[in-house]
Amino acid sequence: MDDAQRWTQTDEYLTRTVAGDAVGLDAIRAAQDAGGLPDIAVSPNQGKLLYLFARIAGARRVLEVGTLGGYSTAWLARAVGADGLVVSLESEQKHADVAAASLAKAGLDDRVEIRVGPALETLPKVTGPFDLVFLDADKSHNPDYLEWALTLTEPGAVIVVDNVVRRIDEEGPDGDGTRRALEMLGSDPRLDATAIQTVGVKGWDGFAVALVRGRR
Ligand code: SAH
Ligand code: DHB
Ligand code: MG
Repeated sequence: MDDAQRWTQTDEYLTRTVAGDAVGLDAIRAAQDAGGLPDIAVSPNQGKLLYLFARIAGARRVLEVGTLGGYSTAWLARAVGADGLVVSLESEQKHADVAAASLAKAGLDDRVEIRVGPALETLPKVTGPFDLVFLDADKSHNPDYLEWALTLTEPGAVIVVDNVVRRIDEEGPDGDGTRRALEMLGSDPRLDATAIQTVGVKGWDGFAVALVRGRR
């Protein structure tokens, strides 16, 4: 067995064993595939981790940048509860349509608002504050999205960034955005952060988690 097979099998074992409630959202992944959307959603156990971050933070209002087929959105919607709100930004109308249909089928559409358009155009119309922000769109704009996340949160809020390793050594806008976002997470006095490499069904990648600092 090569390393990739071992990571995949172990990830599937971990998901089955520890995050069995992921099964309830498998239909969202299937609808995403059926709709021809790319297979780049967070993995099931990463989705559960996002849900747990939101629960641990006591998040009621969540902002997501990058909806795709609504898979991570559904985990966040589960976390905020029936009275909560997830605002999710997506540039592709088709992705938003697939996501909206899946979230309705899952009974989670009452707490999700999808805003279609390039996030840098829709963000100025979004009203905060949010308790948790999940950044998972085009990596080139991650520094801008981080700045917006700071505008739309208060001290104590959590910011999670997906795919911080994927493009880390790449030339070009996605590599630049990835590295600049990591530098900002490490040096901006308003943020208290770390970044973790991950390996699993999506190969080698990583995510960053930050707390928006208060006055202490
Ligand atoms: N969060 C999703 C995966 C998102 S994939 C999940 O884990 O289930 C990245 C998404 O970001 C894609 O749907 C892509 O269309 C969208 N995207 C890319 N550039 C964008 C932009 N400028 N503004 C908003 N969304 C964008
Ligand atoms: C890609 C984007 C993602 O958000 C992700 O989680 C994996 C891959 C991509 O653009 O290839
Ligand atoms: Mg991602």
